Amino acid sequence: MTSVTPELTPPAQSLAIESRSLTKRFGRQTAVNGIDLTVPRGSVFGFLGPNGSGKTTTIRMLLALSQATSGTITVLGQSMPAGLHEVLPRVGALVEGPAFYPFLSGAANLRRLDTADRHAPGQTRRARVHLALERVGLTHAADKKVQAYSLGMKQRLGIANALLLPRELLILDEPTNGLDPQGTREVRSLVRSLAAEGTTVFVSSHLLAEVEQMCTHAAVMSAGSIVAQGTLAALRAVGEARIRVRTPDTAGALRVLTHLGLEPTRAPLDDPDPNVVVAPLVGDSWLPEAIVTALVAGGVRIRGFAIEDPSLEERFVALTGEGFDVVQ
Ligand SMILES: Nc1ncnc2c1ncn2[C@@H]1O[C@H](COP(=O)(O)OP(=O)(O)O)[C@@H](O)[C@H]1O
Ligand SMILES: [Mg+2]
Repeated sequence: MTSVTPELTPPAQSLAIESRSLTKRFGRQTAVNGIDLTVPRGSVFGFLGPNGSGKTTTIRMLLALSQATSGTITVLGQSMPAGLHEVLPRVGALVEGPAFYPFLSGAANLRRLDTADRHAPGQTRRARVHLALERVGLTHAADKKVQAYSLGMKQRLGIANALLLPRELLILDEPTNGLDPQGTREVRSLVRSLAAEGTTVFVSSHLLAEVEQMCTHAAVMSAGSIVAQGTLAALRAVGEARIRVRTPDTAGALRVLTHLGLEPTRAPLDDPDPNVVVAPLVGDSWLPEAIVTALVAGGVRIRGFAIEDPSLEERFVALTGEGFDVVQ
């Protein structure tokens, strides 16, 4: 397992969500396999993984909608599910969409759901419903029956429901599912503005591009396990850059690079050109100009020199063994 662990684990009170060895089994199938989530407060945390990797199952456990088989969960400093009643009013969630009455308007549905929330003050209800609809771009459809809503509009109504009260933490399960590109952009900018106000956002997605555009941190799920976790910057640094030298003097290049402490290979698998030498830039911060200088000083004629930095896409594919849909 490749894992990006921060050198210092942040103190517990600075975490919005923490899980230890969290596991969920369905019969013989292990859907979530001992995951340790570390979600800092103030982050936009992407929970990234292909379909079926265990994201929804995890989110349902975080919200105490389903019981963990084993392991522990802390949300906003409270142990779950014991702290449920203290924690839930501080958390807004979108999981599999709330049940809306199709024959009621969007606004009426939100008022109904708000009425059912004993923490929601009645005298500000209309104003809060209005504001939440405005934030998700549904003002024009506020009085339309939900049965006339598109899937994307229903999804946005679900997000509006999570925004009826100010929240410290928002948990959104694939909030852009079913949205068109315009709706997707709106959700992304909504998430950013919520984060700017100080709300921690935990958002799942099977789209790498989406997580890259919206998140400060991410955990990558593969078949029920976290295979990488950390800041986006740290995740980008997983895997190694390498240099590629094109030269008629491959023997000389191999000798010089080995002398520098690198581990060069001639004619690598992805480029069987006998005039190519590659070497991973492991660990230390190598200065490419120092490598070029050493090659020239060693009498190696350089016809081409490149530093190759695998994309986050390539790294995640390497981690999960699966491709991600890259759209939008
Ligand atoms: N209630 C359930 N009963 C049996 N298996 C389930 C149940 N919920 C989810 N699973 C299985 O757990 C795995 C993870 O599913 P899920 O958490 O929905 O993944 P994701 O949200 O990442 O697409 C899948 O193989 C799914 O079929
Ligand atoms: Mg899911």
